[in-house]
Amino acid sequence: MSPSDRNEPVASAGGDAAQSPTSHETRADALERKLLDQLNKAASNGGMHPPAGAGPQKFLTVAELDAQISTRAYRRGVGRGFWSRSPDGRVSRLPSMPQAPTLVDFFALRLPNTGNHCLQSANKALQRGADEEIVFACLLHDIVQEIMCADHGYWGAQMLEPYVSERVAFAIRYHQALRFFPDEKAGYAYPAMYRRLFGEDYVPDRRLQETHQFVRKHRWYDAPREVTICDLYAFDPKVVVTIDRFVDLIGRHFKQPREGLGNDDSPVAHMWRTMANPDAPL
Ligand SMILES: [Fe+2]
Ligand SMILES: [Fe+2]
Repeated sequence: MSPSDRNEPVASAGGDAAQSPTSHETRADALERKLLDQLNKAASNGGMHPPAGAGPQKFLTVAELDAQISTRAYRRGVGRGFWSRSPDGRVSRLPSMPQAPTLVDFFALRLPNTGNHCLQSANKALQRGADEEIVFACLLHDIVQEIMCADHGYWGAQMLEPYVSERVAFAIRYHQALRFFPDEKAGYAYPAMYRRLFGEDYVPDRRLQETHQFVRKHRWYDAPREVTICDLYAFDPKVVVTIDRFVDLIGRHFKQPREGLGNDDSPVAHMWRTMANPDAPL
């Protein structure tokens, strides 16, 4: 939150009240309300799931979504771990991490926004009888969104590439682009969620179109496509999926560095350190 963002609601609560003995409280209340309002909008616009109790939705246009940009104190592509989704508008203190963190530790301690979504997607892949690499790709496909949402397929594949097979990285990299392109034969329809996120009249740009064409012809097309099919936003609340079910799978498919993720001097170790410590000021 920049100083200018903080000033704005204070100014709107100003006038005579700003000079009265209670002005400080008034201004603080106005600031609080404005911040909460921004955060609630953020949760409904950029969250992993539709807003609770959302009924039939009216989707905005691309132009209407663009017009909202300058009303926010954050960019929509920001990692989910960097802003509060709690009603009090505050982020929580994170539990400490082990000296040599494993992937399972990250699931337990650092994926509050994406972990359940990924577990549910992997569970769906299991139910569909997908092969182990695809189940594994589903398990990891969105975890990078804790630190970066924009272009997350590419960020996610990059962060995981040193530790997973080429096909798993391929599935994670390209699931993002394939989400925009229905494939009726495979049983994948364009998601309503994307009409809400990108605008009802959104048309994928040329780069996405070309990426789609490239992946469509690739021998591993099935892998990212299966991730998109298992990429669920609406879960059965009665189905609880825990990481325990996938610990053996992780053992077979993840090259866990002995020093711990973030300590292994790989070209992407810093990304894991950022996820482990998003409170680092620099
Ligand atoms: Fe995704
Ligand atoms: Fe997803």
